[in-house]
Amino acid sequence: MLDKVTLISEEVNSFEITNKELLEEFRLQFLSKKGKISLLFEDFKNVPGDQKKEFGQKLNILKNSAQTKFNEAQAALESSDNDSVSLDFSLPSDILPLGAQHPLSIVRNRIIEIFNRIGFTVSEGPEIEDDWHVFSALNFPANHPARDMQDTFFIEKDPDILLRTHTSSVQIRVMENQKPPIRSLFPGRVFRNEAISARAHCIFHQVEGLYVDKNVSFADLKQTLLYFAKEMFGKDTKIRLRPSYFPFTEPSAEMDISCSICGGKGCNICKYSGWVEILGCGMVDPNVLDACGIDSKEYSGFAFGMGIERTTMLKYQINDIRLFFENDVRFIKQFSSEI
Ligand code: DAH
Repeated sequence: MLDKVTLISEEVNSFEITNKELLEEFRLQFLSKKGKISLLFEDFKNVPGDQKKEFGQKLNILKNSAQTKFNEAQAALESSDNDSVSLDFSLPSDILPLGAQHPLSIVRNRIIEIFNRIGFTVSEGPEIEDDWHVFSALNFPANHPARDMQDTFFIEKDPDILLRTHTSSVQIRVMENQKPPIRSLFPGRVFRNEAISARAHCIFHQVEGLYVDKNVSFADLKQTLLYFAKEMFGKDTKIRLRPSYFPFTEPSAEMDISCSICGGKGCNICKYSGWVEILGCGMVDPNVLDACGIDSKEYSGFAFGMGIERTTMLKYQINDIRLFFENDVRFIKQFSSEI
């Protein structure tokens, strides 16, 4: 009887379990109700009394070691199954959704890049401003009706603290703190108390440009803006300057570009005129230079300012300014190829 236990013990030890079929085979041969070990238990009653103890012990050891062997083989086969799933390098990876830059960022960066190439740096100023930087230093006399052209959000009165209505305020901050030559761009957010519609918003963005040095002329302004228009809207773009009025420039002008949609032939974007207005500009008024401590007898300068929304609407034929602020991903996604 004890020999039988030893024999089956050897069979258990030499059985190699290398796959699931062999695992099942092992279970059937040794561990099932009709398996060899169960049959040995049934033989227990035939064992002579003096051998019962030793037989029982050996049989238990055999049963336990067979069960342990089965459990370990089963666990090893399962984990190698899992490994092969997680390590299948041939599986395609998950597709990550690709983001898109906001069109206003695309156009702002493009404007900066175009002017960078001709030596313009970038400076920024605060959105919450005082009267001096937004109006007084820019040659807006107190109570002058020109102040009403810009519907201001006031935060505090006397002294006035307000949300800047244009980025021209940054001109003042830069001229107060730097000596000419100054060649810089001022991009940023501006605020006006206007009813929101397809054409106007109470928040929008501008880029201001300023060049101050000795002998800066209107011809420099015109050539700089022509270069910008061609880089931004295509090399066939033409410009025209119409006389205008801004308190901080003298002379002042508004610049139109030939309509980039119809090439100047006339369409509903240019209202069949062939031209669209894109910015205001002029020679920095000597009063403004003097207010910032720059001697207007020695230095002259030009400045210009444009709305980024307007430029973007023209470039991409967007007909409603509100789309820029809704953050609808279906709108923004359309610009993913522009980065
Ligand atoms: N600040 C003007 C506005 O918001 C735009 C502008 C016009 C800026 C002429 C300039 C300029 O620097 O020279 O309407």
